[in-house]
Amino acid sequence: MMRVLIVGGGAREHALAWRLSKDSEVEVIGAPGNAGIAAIGQTVPVDPSDAEQVVALAKQESADLVVVGPEAPLVAGVVDALRDQGIDAFGPSREAAQLEGSKIFSKEFMARHAIPTAGFAVFDDPDAATRYIEEASRPLVVKADGLAAGKGVIVASNAAEAIAGVDRIMRERAFGGAGDRVLIEECLVGEEVSYHVVSDGKRFIPLAPAQDHKRAFDGDRGPNTGGMGAYSPPPVVTADIERKILDRVVEPTLRGMAFEGRPFRGALFVGLMIVDGEPLVLEYNTRFGDPECQTLMTRWKGSVLPLIQGSAQGDFRGLAPEWEAPASLCVVLAAGGYPGSYEKGTPIHGLDAASALPQVTVFHAGTALHDDAVVTSGGRVLSVTAIGESIDEAAKRAYEAVEKIDFEGKQFRRDIGWRARSG
Ligand SMILES: Nc1ncnc2c1ncn2[C@@H]1O[C@H](COP(=O)(O)OP(=O)(O)O)[C@@H](O)[C@H]1O
Ligand SMILES: [Mg+2]
Repeated sequence: MMRVLIVGGGAREHALAWRLSKDSEVEVIGAPGNAGIAAIGQTVPVDPSDAEQVVALAKQESADLVVVGPEAPLVAGVVDALRDQGIDAFGPSREAAQLEGSKIFSKEFMARHAIPTAGFAVFDDPDAATRYIEEASRPLVVKADGLAAGKGVIVASNAAEAIAGVDRIMRERAFGGAGDRVLIEECLVGEEVSYHVVSDGKRFIPLAPAQDHKRAFDGDRGPNTGGMGAYSPPPVVTADIERKILDRVVEPTLRGMAFEGRPFRGALFVGLMIVDGEPLVLEYNTRFGDPECQTLMTRWKGSVLPLIQGSAQGDFRGLAPEWEAPASLCVVLAAGGYPGSYEKGTPIHGLDAASALPQVTVFHAGTALHDDAVVTSGGRVLSVTAIGESIDEAAKRAYEAVEKIDFEGKQFRRDIGWRARSG
């Protein structure tokens, strides 16, 4: 029996824990986990970004492997601290996590390695950034350099909005030190996709393309969220485009990181804009996407342990990935009001009925146990995920399950996967 500590407490971590414990001799420990992870393993309340706490817990629980889900602990060096103690850890080192931790590092890296991306300029002075915007009479995107929990990007429709973005990031310091510098990019128009690979630092295993839905409401309207749903595979990624993503983006990225002395181990998630059939990088994430991970883990065939452990140990050996399901779709159920303020502690009903449906898995995010009852404890509450022979079939199953689950204020999108659905 292997003991695997999963750092994080979202639906992504539940999906990883579920896949790891389903097909392998694995016992999972959630750090801190949620009510879904508590149903398949033990959970311990820790701060995921506190390296000392995570190392101490891994030792206390005699963990054979630690899987780090979210970006903040990676950028904080949690993987380095574990490896220093001889503990196998899945995820990039702090230096390799700079691909996500600094958007400016990542753009300058792409420029050094001729990886296709939007043109850009970097500023450490708000006055200079403002002058640049005033002179450039074209659509621009303003980004805080560091981690900002998905809130540090302004896709500006005019110069005033772009300048307001610079003010918010650099003068009001809405994201603290993450806004010491800003990145200003050319605005790309096209269709967005997510592409995941897992690397052991030498080789990589391509997973599959996916597409997420960031806006809160149907029709891709409303404020941005952590993600309201996802599906895999999106039809926009033809075999030809997938080849271009692997040859022009993934391969040079991993080669470049190794060349620069920061070999990348772990999950690399490339956010891309497909512009007239050409993939351009929007950003790198150095971990699985949430909700994309839920679609990838349900499509995966059999044990995911060789992939995760092989990457953590820096050697995939004879791994040959196989896919079980042609399609997967995930609908996020959020608390009423999300991404604004919302209630916590609301009882959730119908989880068993939903999970009993064929090919459906309900992953937990913001849930907690209260006197043995499952209650809401976050903005994104559940990730209702179904597989099928097609996106249509997966969508039908996922939405049937969504109807079985009830909690006050339940909020979700009815159009997840609309680009790939027939009706
Ligand atoms: N150059 C760009 N052109 C058009 N849209 C962009 C551009 N860069 C980012 N975006 C949009 O903004 C979103 C967030 O930007 P991203 O770089 O992914 O930052 P983060 O996920 O850290 O907030 C993207 O998913 C995309 O919709
Ligand atoms: Mg992004």
